Amino acid sequence: MVQIAPSILSADFTRIAEAVQWVEEAGADVLHVDIMDGHFVPNLTFGPQLVTALRDSTSLPIDVHLMVENPRDFVPSFQEAGADWISIHIEATAHLHKDVTHIKELGCKAGLALNPATPIHLMNEIIRELDFILLMTVNPGWGGQELIAAMLPKIAQLKSWISGQKLDTLIEVDGGVKFENMQDFVKSGADVLVMGSGIFKRPDPKAEMIRIKQELSRLTDDS
Ligand code: DX5
Ligand code: ZN
Repeated sequence: MVQIAPSILSADFTRIAEAVQWVEEAGADVLHVDIMDGHFVPNLTFGPQLVTALRDSTSLPIDVHLMVENPRDFVPSFQEAGADWISIHIEATAHLHKDVTHIKELGCKAGLALNPATPIHLMNEIIRELDFILLMTVNPGWGGQELIAAMLPKIAQLKSWISGQKLDTLIEVDGGVKFENMQDFVKSGADVLVMGSGIFKRPDPKAEMIRIKQELSRLTDDS
């Protein structure tokens, strides 16, 4: 079953708890939290304290996407704060195997994130260790960008690699996903759809989340 991971980056920060409650009630599967350090990406966002606060206000699994340099340094504090899934960028670490293993040793699902221009074959020696792969479908740094269309065949290529190897690694897609194009992501083989502005910048985020879940049932019934 395809999962929906609302990204709170696009939520109204004065009402985060309410925003989380809306999407949880409307059937969200995972809560996506974007951590940016002002170095790996130019933007700055949240620290582990926000994850601690979210942990107290939701029972959804918390998916921490680390867009930071030296990700290993930050993994323990996000795990302690309550992260369930943690992804690090392949472009941000020279010690991939060690860092992925570290996330799993701490009891979290380990994910590897790839920027749009990073080829999937770089994961050849690590793919078996991964619980999920986060394919960036925009350049990381901001919500509300348009999908880079060339990412759809990249998703399909990764899906066929995973199936061919009989792995159960999930493909999470992040950037430019919304009601209007979610069908393209599902057909390409995505398992987890991150949606920021596609939920929280809509006039009624809860109603949008409900509409997305209904569309997902329709799409997955058809296939
Ligand atoms: C971008 C972040 C995304 C962002 C997606 O760097 O990784 O998770 O919240 O936002 P939308 O869905 O608006 O493209
Ligand atoms: Zn993200």
